Amino acid sequence: MSKLFTTLTYGCQMNSSDSERFAGQLKAGGYEYTNDLEKADIIVINTCCVRESAEKKIYGKIGELKRLKASNPNLIIAIAGCMAQKDRDKLFKKAPHIDLVMGTYNVHQLFDLIKEIERSKDRVLAVWDQAERLAPDTPTIRANTIAAWVPIMYGCNNFCTYCIVPYVRGRERSRPVEDITREIRELADQGFKEVTLLGQNVNSYGKDRDASVDFAGLLEVVDGLGVIRRIRYMTSHPRDMSERIIETVANSKHICEHFHLPIQSGSNTILKAMNRGYTTQYYSELVAKIRRRIPGASLTTDLIVGFPGESEELFLETLELIKKVRFDAAYTFLYSQRSGTPAAEMAEQVPLATKKERLKRLMDLQNQISLEINKELEGKTLEVLVEGPSKTDPRINMGRTRTNKIVLWDAGTEQIGQLVNVSIKKAQTWVLKGQIK
Ligand code: SAH
Ligand code: SF4
Ligand code: F3S
Repeated sequence: MSKLFTTLTYGCQMNSSDSERFAGQLKAGGYEYTNDLEKADIIVINTCCVRESAEKKIYGKIGELKRLKASNPNLIIAIAGCMAQKDRDKLFKKAPHIDLVMGTYNVHQLFDLIKEIERSKDRVLAVWDQAERLAPDTPTIRANTIAAWVPIMYGCNNFCTYCIVPYVRGRERSRPVEDITREIRELADQGFKEVTLLGQNVNSYGKDRDASVDFAGLLEVVDGLGVIRRIRYMTSHPRDMSERIIETVANSKHICEHFHLPIQSGSNTILKAMNRGYTTQYYSELVAKIRRRIPGASLTTDLIVGFPGESEELFLETLELIKKVRFDAAYTFLYSQRSGTPAAEMAEQVPLATKKERLKRLMDLQNQISLEINKELEGKTLEVLVEGPSKTDPRINMGRTRTNKIVLWDAGTEQIGQLVNVSIKKAQTWVLKGQIK
């Protein structure tokens, strides 16, 4: 019987994508996937360290695995991803039952490293300090059958002062256009309907390659392939969101009318301290441009509360800004001190209780705005890509609009991957409930 492996993934889409490449390598090497932790011979935990809360959760999970290791000494526990890159051999000290710690530049080596451990019965540390070059592509097993992640670049050069990502993911490395288009064509052949082009800062695509194709150019190329119904991308930095990109989206057939533009704060003082490289005025103009050119486009964002030096007054500027801009949705985070980043050393750290209180006010306001915006969709008919039964009820189907809103309806004869028209009956803060037309 073949050995079984499982993967547990934390963090962002880049980690989800890496985990698909872990699964691909192990499957190609003769292992079989299981979603049962108890049965697995190999457990790969793909970690995130963007906030302390993520790390705590992961260390808790690693602790739980001690029990499995005790009952099965042949179990191989591998820790991959950003926390592995950051903590390295410290992980062995904290959790001696771990067998492999591998960094973010070593993704393509998982299979070889597992083989080495099976041979030597010893633990292995495989954490490079930097990417030698663009890591080779590996086989991929995807979690979803209709929507796929396609990495277009790795790393980040922005060094926002709160953020650990540039330290654990390294400098920007773009994949060649031909590799990206080859992967997308293969996905189309396999029946995929949607791709999301991934990078920490997709608007910088190509800058490190001195290539003639920049991000707008890449979008044009991918749209022009004409093989994928819906094209999305994540994440774009507002500073680098050029008019050409907006034009490309507007003129394209398949690129979705959804803009995720993390603003982080509505205060110019804080934005400057964050090293974000734009002002709220610039941001508001950018949004106005997008809305003029692409009416009906949705807009989502990320916000951090309690960045060092954020007074009540400066926090109120964020509330004012979100009232003015009116995002469809916002992902809101408590500022988390990440050692090694400049913000962690700044004076005037905000007490946790204040951060929590601000987060609640921010979420209350945003939820109200999200609901108001969604209410305007009641009575409208929207094109929805069927993703399948909802998590909680198999009789309810789930899908998304081009603007990335989640839609639920009573399941009929529609198939996964089909585009259907749904008439919206009831809007809620996070979902739209409707009926198939
Ligand atoms: N590259 C993307 C995503 C980075 S991580 C981007 O720049 O948008 C996703 C989000 O986590 C960020 O947008 C930010 O809002 C949040 N984040 C990053 N570091 C954080 C920290 N130290 N504390 C709290 N939130 C943080
Ligand atoms: Fe972090 Fe800023 Fe890079 Fe995003 S752009 S990954 S927030 S440093
Ligand atoms: Fe987390 Fe690494 Fe992504 S720190 S958010 S998994 S790039």
